[in-house]
Amino acid sequence: EELAQLRGALLRWYDSQALQLPWRQRGGRPDPYQVYVSEVMLQQTRVKTVEMYFMEWMRRFPTVEALAAATEEEVLQQWAGLGYYRRARMLHAGAKWIVAQNRGKIPASVRDLEQVPGIGVYTASAIASIAFGAVVPAIDGNATRVVSRLAGMCCTNVWKGDGKRLLAAVASELVDANRPGDWNQAVFDLGRSLCTAQVTEEACAVCPVQKFCRAAALPISVRQSTPYGV
Ligand code: ADE
Repeated sequence: EELAQLRGALLRWYDSQALQLPWRQRGGRPDPYQVYVSEVMLQQTRVKTVEMYFMEWMRRFPTVEALAAATEEEVLQQWAGLGYYRRARMLHAGAKWIVAQNRGKIPASVRDLEQVPGIGVYTASAIASIAFGAVVPAIDGNATRVVSRLAGMCCTNVWKGDGKRLLAAVASELVDANRPGDWNQAVFDLGRSLCTAQVTEEACAVCPVQKFCRAAALPISVRQSTPYGV
């Protein structure tokens, strides 16, 4: 069926093209703490920068216990250069909570993850799917754009209210039940490399899911700048 083909096509692309990133583990589940740290870092910082800081971070704070035991000063010093320092404080608070309230175990479900201070629905979904195989979409800005294009939601404001809820429902339908973490990361990678805000004919021509994309059938000018800027 069409959805199965779409999933297969994007996952094959991911398997052959995916960035090798330190928090991605080929075959086998990545360390939940590493996924937690990387997702918080990736929220407002580009992948290249995060890569470098992530390696250093893991040397300094290799476990959630090590992070929880650090002083705020040590944490902020290690974060220096990444910006948006509130993220570092929340990550620290989250680590302390996990150690004190959950015996150092990162929760595995979206619902339990959302109990951790500083973890919102996006981060919870990313951790649950990537580290624990939960079948949930992780919807950030890139995913919003990719999914809205795939579904041809050109006249819907997918950033708030009913449109946002509709987009979440579509994203839930799309996620691959066998490889939800890889699916979500494939969507992120596609949004960063080919399905960018300023889309081009060249990018669409080599897109692994062009055949399944409703927006690809529209003229480039429409695809490029919809009323809601997806
Ligand atoms: N952006 C947010 N999370 C990401 C991830 N796990 N891989 C690549 N890009 C991302």
